[in-house]
Parts: sequence; C-alpha cells; structure tokens
Amino acid sequence: MNKKLFILFIIFITIGLVIGLLIASCNKPQTNAANQYGDKIEELVSKMTIEEKIGQMTQVTLDVISVGEIYNVPDPHRLDTAKLMKAITEYHVGSILNNAGHAYSQEHWHSIISQIQDAAVNKTRLGIPIIYGIDAIHGVNYTIGSTLFPQQINMAASRNPEAVQEIGAVVAYETRASSIPWNFSPVLDLGRNAAWPRFWETFGEDVFLAKVMGKALVKGYEGDDISDKTKVAACTKHYFAYSAPLSGKDRTPAWIPERYLREYFLPSFQAAFEQGAHTLMVNSAEVNGIPAHANSWMLTEVLRNELNFKGLAVSDWEDIKYLYTRHKIAASPKEAVKLAILAGIDMSMVPDDFSFYTYLLELVNEGEISEERINESVRRILWVKQELGLFETPVTHPQDYPDFGSEKFRLLSKNAAIESLTLLKNEDQTLPLSKDKKVLLVGPAANSMRALNGGWSYTWQGEQTDEYAKDKNTILEAIQQKIGEAKVVYVLGSEFEKEVNIAEAVSKAKSVDAVVLCIGENSYTEKPGDIDDLYLPQAQVDLANALIATGKPMVMVLVEGRPRIISKINENYKSVLMAYLPGNEGGEAIADVLFGDANPSGKLPYTYPRFPNALVAYDHKFTEQLDMGKGRSEFYPQFEFGTGLSYTTFEYSNLKLSSTEFTETTALTISVDVKNTGSRVGKETVELYISDLYASITPSVKRLRGFSKIELNPGETKIVSFEVRALDMAFVGIDNKWITEKGEFKAQIGSITQNFFLK
Ligand code: BGC
Repeated sequence: MNKKLFILFIIFITIGLVIGLLIASCNKPQTNAANQYGDKIEELVSKMTIEEKIGQMTQVTLDVISVGEIYNVPDPHRLDTAKLMKAITEYHVGSILNNAGHAYSQEHWHSIISQIQDAAVNKTRLGIPIIYGIDAIHGVNYTIGSTLFPQQINMAASRNPEAVQEIGAVVAYETRASSIPWNFSPVLDLGRNAAWPRFWETFGEDVFLAKVMGKALVKGYEGDDISDKTKVAACTKHYFAYSAPLSGKDRTPAWIPERYLREYFLPSFQAAFEQGAHTLMVNSAEVNGIPAHANSWMLTEVLRNELNFKGLAVSDWEDIKYLYTRHKIAASPKEAVKLAILAGIDMSMVPDDFSFYTYLLELVNEGEISEERINESVRRILWVKQELGLFETPVTHPQDYPDFGSEKFRLLSKNAAIESLTLLKNEDQTLPLSKDKKVLLVGPAANSMRALNGGWSYTWQGEQTDEYAKDKNTILEAIQQKIGEAKVVYVLGSEFEKEVNIAEAVSKAKSVDAVVLCIGENSYTEKPGDIDDLYLPQAQVDLANALIATGKPMVMVLVEGRPRIISKINENYKSVLMAYLPGNEGGEAIADVLFGDANPSGKLPYTYPRFPNALVAYDHKFTEQLDMGKGRSEFYPQFEFGTGLSYTTFEYSNLKLSSTEFTETTALTISVDVKNTGSRVGKETVELYISDLYASITPSVKRLRGFSKIELNPGETKIVSFEVRALDMAFVGIDNKWITEKGEFKAQIGSITQNFFLK
C-alpha cells in the first residue's frame, strides 16, 4: 500500500469509528448518559441524599399543604405553614400542582408560590426550588381575570398555526404572571373516538394537523429559551395513545397494534419533542393490556432510546396507585411504585399523600431499585428546573406583567374564536342575518358562559364559569348588544337534558323573522364527562324539531366539545354554525359571524358522524366506503372532515405538479390557483390530500399532507403551493418501520386530482 492510500485508509477508519461511536451513544440507554445534563446538575446530584432525591420525584397537590381537609379546603384559601414545612423539609417534595378547588387572584398565586419557594430555597440544606405545575390549557384558567381562549379543538378548526403560536405565547405570559412556570398542556392525543369526553382537548382526528398545531403551541409556550420570564415549560400529554378507548369512556382499554401506535398516536409527540418540549405526562389508561404507567416499551425503549427524549416524564393524577387499585397489575401499592419507576416514570403526581416517597425509599433500601435509576430521574427534574431559571428566579411577580388580562389579549382571543367558527351548512344564504330583523334566541347554550368555555375553566369541571365570567357576553348578550334588545326575544326552551318550555318557544317563534337555536353540551372533562349515548339529548332534539315545524328560517349554533349526533333532527334547518368551545369571547365572535361582521373560515377538524355506530374517520380504508346496495357510500357522515363554508365563494383551478415522477431523494411541488369568486373578503384553508393507490398495508382512501390558510379579496387569485417528499407519504409497514413504497399516488386539492409516480 503506498503512503497516500494508507493515509486515506486511516481517514476512512477514523470517520467510521466516529460515526459508529455517535450511533452507539444515541442508542445507549439513559443510564450512561448522565453528562448530557451538565456539570452543575452532576455536582448537585452528588451532594444529595437518597431521601432528597426521592423527594424531588414526589409531586403533591395544593390541598396537602393547605389549611383544611384534603379535597375540602375552605375559602378563603390559606397555606398551612406546618404542613408546608413537613412536605418540604421532611419529605423533600420537589413539585406541587393544581389549585385547591377553584381559581385564585394573581396576588394569591404569587403569595402561595412565594411561601413555597421561600421554604424550598431558604429552609432546606441544598435550596432546590420547587417546580409548580398547573393546567393552563386555554389560558391560565385557574387565575381570575386571565384571558380565556378557545379550546384546542377550536384552534385546530382555525387551521391557523401562527395564531396558535401567539395564543401559546400569551398563555405562557399570563401563567408566569401568576408566578407559575410549568403548564400541563398541550394535549397531543388524537380525537379518534367522538364519544371520548376529552375529545375537545385534542386537535381533532388527523395526525398531520395535530403535529403542526402541537408544535405551534409548544413553540408559543416555550419560545427558544424557557428561562425567559414570559415562557413556561410545556407538558405534552398524555403520552401516548390515551385517546382511543374501545368503549369511548375515559381511562378504559385501547387495543392498538404497534403499527398504528407508531403511525397515528406517536408522531404528534415526536414532533413536539423535536420542537423542544421539556416535559410529558403519561397516559392514564391501558393500551393492549398494559397500563402506560407500567409500560417500559413506551416509557424507556421508545421514549428514551428511540426518540432520545431528555426531559421529565410525570405521571398523571394518582396513576401509580391505580396500577394497584384499578388496573390490578400490582398486588400492592408498593409494587405499583416499583413497576412505574422501573418502566421509566420520573415524577409521581401522587398527589394527596407521601406514600410514593415512603415506598420508593424502602425499595431503594431493599435493593429493588438502584440509586442509579433514581439519579436518572433526578437529573431530568433538576435539568428542567435549571432550564426554567428557577435556581436564579424562583418566583415571578405580577407587577412585571402589565399586559395580563389586557384588551389586546382579549382581541387575540376573539379573533381566534372567529377564525375557528365553522359554517357547516348555509342554505338560501340564510346567514348572515340582517341586523334589522327580529330574532328568537333559544336553547340551553344561548345564555351560558359555562357552555362556551367547557371544562378546565376556573374549576376542573367548569361549573362556576357563569359566576367567574359574568362580565363576559353570552351569545344572547352579544346579540342584544349588536342589534338592540328590542329585536331579540329569548326563551330557554330546554336545558341540556330536560325540557323546560318548548311550547312557549314555538309560540314566540311565530313573531320573529328567524330563529337562532343554541344547543349542544354543558361543560365537562375526564370521567365525569363519560356518556352512554352520543345522540344529542332528546329534550334538545324535541326543541329543534318543534321550532323547525314552525317553518321559520332556523340557524343552529352547536356549542359542544364532541359531535353530538343530530340526525334525529329534521333536516329542514337552513344553517349550522359549529362553535365548539370558543371561550370567553365566543359569544361576541358568534354574534359577529351570525350578523355578518365577520366572515367564517374554520374547517371541521374531525368527521361529524351521522350515527353512533358509524364513528369512522376521514382517513378510513377503502373497505369502509363500499356501496353494498344502499345507493351511497358506507362512509356517510353528517359533515366531512375539512367542511367549512364562507360568506364568499372560492374556485380552485390549475392543479399543477412539478413532475409526474419523483424519487426518494427529490421533492415534488404541487400547486393550485385559488380565486375568490364572491363579493366579500374571505379566508380559505387550502388542503392537500394524497392517496397511496396500492400499498402493502391497506392504504387509507386519503391523508392530509399539507394545508395553508390564505386571505383573498373579491376577484383575487393566489397560487398556493406545497412541497412534498417521499417521507411525507410514508406509512408504518409490516415490520413496524416507516416506509414509502414506489408506485402510483393521487394528489387532491378541492375536487381536482392528479396522479403521479414515485420511482
Ligand atoms: C388529567 C391531566 C391533568 C392532571 C392534573 C389529570 O386528572 O388527566 O390532564 O393534567 O389531572 O390536573
């Protein structure tokens, strides 16, 4: 071998070795990856006793350190200093969460957090600050006077990721203005079962939409640096596959093969981790017979070894105990702790006692769990605290946040609500209504702030919202203000579940020009929101049918967290406006759209079913839409995913592909011309669907692969283009690995299609 060749040979070997080492270090279990958290953390860990370490992994709820009994804390809320000192100095607790019943003022939050941090920082040996966590899922919803935004399902309907990021930034700002640095949001579960009571907490049924919106919200919450005092640590939840229980009931079993776990339920989390999300909360239910809290495949193999997630994994509420009390895979509460910690959980949301601390300490002392395993979790927890700047600034102060609850944030919330409202039907151009006409406002959602906001509003179930948000306008109040009280007649008609005065509503309908019927659901979340029947309750169906029989033009406004089935209502209603849960400015937003001061532009983020036994998503398989004699597709929803009309009209033309052939390494540009053919300015979301015509795993009829929201003046045309690569059309193959197979594909925008080939 000559000298040159020899040198080349050495260079190749060295490069090979370096690459080999890099790959090995990425794949190696977290046990050896301590240094990624930095010297400061290592030094701190080396000084900690095992008790202090286990305390860091313990999270209790505010009741535990409050005056009064747990879950029965009296008003006005006060911290109990003796209980606080016990938690922090005796049990070395590292984290606290939640309110003790309902929302507090900013000042009270500041006082709570200051007292807690004073104890943690000044009265303990190592002075490690507490990380306080809260569910600020549509605004910092447990702080009085905060800006309450539309819920996540509305954000998805808006198809506006820039606005979602802005919302995230405001929520982060107002959360820090409440002295809290950690937000248990976003929900990245997919809304694939319409009965599930947390459906509205999701971004809807589509993977791509959830990925884009989830990243936007995380970016809004975290920015580039969470030590910035206007940013918070995001907590992506509920990792993963929580949202598709077979029964539709919360926290019940899901059976999902690994292929679909990877293709549908994991990508939104992966995208959020790539965006930098610092923490996650674990799925409270079981998947394929294994509760997620004891699933080491999910919590270690996939999370740490495949996705290289560096942050902290907190359990959900009481879920380690549930491994024993509900799931019955542990024969004792102590075994439950062992299973959860060995599976990979870092912090236990215990939340109402110190049992986790006691059991885990025993397990380590008995040699059942190694101290090295404990160190892994403690590093992650301390790292998040360090990233948040809590060591330097354990408490933020309300006076540094002059924009809290400001008019500019209110307008952002109102615009977000407007952009989410989805016009599902509008016959005879019934909408917008004329401001000169007389209307009857009727139905249980017409005069309710509670219905507009849904759960997680001032309280967990949102049942006190009418009191807390009494200065905000319900739909009725907003319409009265807009067109004058004299032109508005109001009758309740029915409550959500019970008839009240349908006959009176019918008689009043006779004296007006149009009927606005506001129906749907009252607030709920989690198990209390479980239902046995997805049909809209009969009282509301009866009210709707009685009003339709009057022959007056009727507009239905649906205020609901999940699509309650409306097919028992006679279809002679003219218009349907889907409001979902539009938040505190929802009343005004709805009034603006109904009377034409705003043009609707939302798109349905899920398939609205027509029957309870036909809960099928838009990306179903070909076998789910066969026509076997009904004269129509078996897939026959009330409204399709992506439905959303405007007061103007749009025309699509000129679908162009940069080539009809492309390869694994080249990109394809797909473009279309969109023209506003009506007479109003309007926004339109252009959606790109791609179908893989033949594949080794049965292909979906179509999949959303891109969307873009544009605004057009009357007569204006814009070209919208998307760039796609082979990877964007990948699916999870027979071996549970992502793959794109060569062959024929179909691109579809609007109703125009064009085929192309991957060579
Ligand atoms: C919910 C979580 C929530 C946690 C803390 C649980 O019951 O499932 O989504 O973050 O409580 O409030």
